[in-house]
Amino acid sequence: MKPDDLKRPFQWVNRHILIQDRIWYVPDQYEDQGQFVFPGWTHPQTFAHERPICIEYCSGNGAWIAAKAQANPQQNWVAVELKFERVRKIWAKIKNQDLSNLFVICGEGHRVTQNYFPSASVHSVFINFPDPWPKNRHAKHRLVQVAFVREIERILQPHGTLTLVTDDPAYSEGMIHVMQQIAGFQSVFEAPYYVKEYPDYGTSYFEDLWRQKGKSIRYHAFRKIS
Ligand SMILES: C[S@@+](CC[C@H](N)C(=O)[O-])C[C@H]1O[C@@H](n2cnc3c(N)ncnc32)[C@H](O)[C@@H]1O
Repeated sequence: MKPDDLKRPFQWVNRHILIQDRIWYVPDQYEDQGQFVFPGWTHPQTFAHERPICIEYCSGNGAWIAAKAQANPQQNWVAVELKFERVRKIWAKIKNQDLSNLFVICGEGHRVTQNYFPSASVHSVFINFPDPWPKNRHAKHRLVQVAFVREIERILQPHGTLTLVTDDPAYSEGMIHVMQQIAGFQSVFEAPYYVKEYPDYGTSYFEDLWRQKGKSIRYHAFRKIS
């Protein structure tokens, strides 16, 4: 299968919420989101089997999460990606590698979490190279903000973890600042609250790109303690 083999399931004017062929479409600027009821992680339309749920937000082409799903069949993996062109690439990996434990959400991470994900239902959350929005006036567009992380705290099970990876030092400092405002998390790493090497973590398209350009990577990990 090629990414192009996945056709858009609806025109923009007819957009609606749909779960079809391992993808859950939650269109942007769709006002009737409250009408849809998420069937849950063990429903046949999602995973059918009860296994720990691991979510990656901002999955891009899915290289990292597809490798994780392949290496960890005892866990169920959820990729959340805004852009359909990238969702197609993840979908092709599901088909070509026969990854029955990988499911994709084509939608905006904060909104789908807030509107649908059940509380205390997720084992671990990963965000690899979220868009850094480096200009000060654009920082409001960053995904890792207090309101979003409070949602992550809500959906995580006790002792669940949130791992954040970035090449951008300013975003790294911003992430640490956000996490310090939320009492329910404790950093896994001592000050400065990140490590620069994380063996066996896996790599993504952007990680490979930044390492080739000589950039240093920061891995942050936080455990839910309450
Ligand atoms: C810099 S890329 C990183 C992709 C991948 N994690 C990697 O490391 O190769 C950021 C990705 O996040 C997606 N994205 C940005 N904001 C998002 C949001 N609010 N919800 C879901 N995906 C988002 C973008 O479409 C893009 O694919």
